[in-house]
Amino acid sequence: MDKILVRGGRSLNGTVPISGAKNAALPCMAAALLCDGTLRLTNVPHLKDVTTMLELLGQHGAAITVDEHWGVDIDCTGVNNTEAPYNLVRTMRASILVMGPLVARFGEARISLPGGCAIGSRPVDLHIKGLEAMGAKVNLEGGYIHVQAPRLKGTRIVFDLVTVTGTENLMMAAALAEGTTVLENAAREPEVVDLALCLNKMGARVEGAGTDAITIHGVERLTSASHAVLPDRIETGTFMMAAAVTQGNVTITRTDPTMLEAPILKLQQCGVEVETEGDVIRVRSDKRLRAADIKTLPYPGFPTDLQAQMVVLMSVAQGASIITETIFENRFMHVSELQRLGADIAVRGNTVLVRGVEKLIGAPVMATDLRASASLVLAGLAAEGETLISRVYHIDRGYERIEEKLLALGADIQRLHG
Ligand code: UD1
Repeated sequence: MDKILVRGGRSLNGTVPISGAKNAALPCMAAALLCDGTLRLTNVPHLKDVTTMLELLGQHGAAITVDEHWGVDIDCTGVNNTEAPYNLVRTMRASILVMGPLVARFGEARISLPGGCAIGSRPVDLHIKGLEAMGAKVNLEGGYIHVQAPRLKGTRIVFDLVTVTGTENLMMAAALAEGTTVLENAAREPEVVDLALCLNKMGARVEGAGTDAITIHGVERLTSASHAVLPDRIETGTFMMAAAVTQGNVTITRTDPTMLEAPILKLQQCGVEVETEGDVIRVRSDKRLRAADIKTLPYPGFPTDLQAQMVVLMSVAQGASIITETIFENRFMHVSELQRLGADIAVRGNTVLVRGVEKLIGAPVMATDLRASASLVLAGLAAEGETLISRVYHIDRGYERIEEKLLALGADIQRLHG
């Protein structure tokens, strides 16, 4: 298994381009199942989760071509298998995104239950309840969710809590349903808006994405279209924080600052200089950060996917901060690894108290999930000495060429193959 070796203490300087968003690419790829023709996606990031989704679509019977720039053509006219098997679903929970499109287009889906997950139990009950409300018959058998519906029917669905992939799954299902569906208490994440844009290019009639009430007027069929995936706001935020924690000066390009208002404000509150212009963000920091409290919330609040990275910043900030995780239970596995580098952090339920220390000292650590591994890289960059991060396959699920991009900014980072 690959490891990443970071020798810390260098400031990051230079320019880094942002890749397409994993969390927008995955639902858009699943949406290809709805299309009577070919969906062409560009700005698709080259990531493990994306290849897993391609593999999943391929085994459903999709014909897929990928060009040298990671433009992906997905033709689902030959789909002949509506089962998403355990061996793929267990490596990527977002596989659940094929459930809505498969039922809507083919009347049936058998999706393996995702099973345990490192960041809490993460059920999919709201996806299932929504499909049932649209008239689907759902049975759980042999570890699989079996959903059947000759034709889904539009209805009003009020989510018990805000779910991103739940909103996306039902939006896709509703696109081919009979009549109108209204999703209330819907997720407002930019990736939900991107999926709606992609669906509308295919001929769907989705209105209100980006608000908490989305209306979908079902249509008979969706047809070929082309869509460029939006930039990755979590990758953007991670590089902003890497610049801040190393007291660097970094220009982040090909992104969209309007998607990052909460993290930008928080960094400014910590004393980081952040300027935005068009699709560019400039981040500069030349002194120790000030501590600030943070609470993760659904968009437009502070994203849970940047919480672990922020804990690193607060570990070396001046003062103490309270960080509250409201989206996922058990999303503090990075804490025990950061403690190995000398961070002073106490966990109480869904809250951590971080007392900033003068410096972190490198040590061997282990990545436990995608965003936790990004936080360990950041900690390694900030720490004195060597940090060896094992189990970095987690990071390859969600960050395109992270060590290459950091190397170009002057980091001392190296992948050890093994
Ligand atoms: C998506 C993102 C993930 C991000 C998360 C929250 C993708 C592929 N992944 O994950 O990176 O961290 O949003 O911004 O887009 N819940 C239920 N029942 C359900 C569905 C969700 O109880 O049926 C709960 C979850 O356990 C969690 C909360 O709702 O506590 C939010 O989860 P959700 O928004 O669904 O996360 P994902 O869509 O899986």
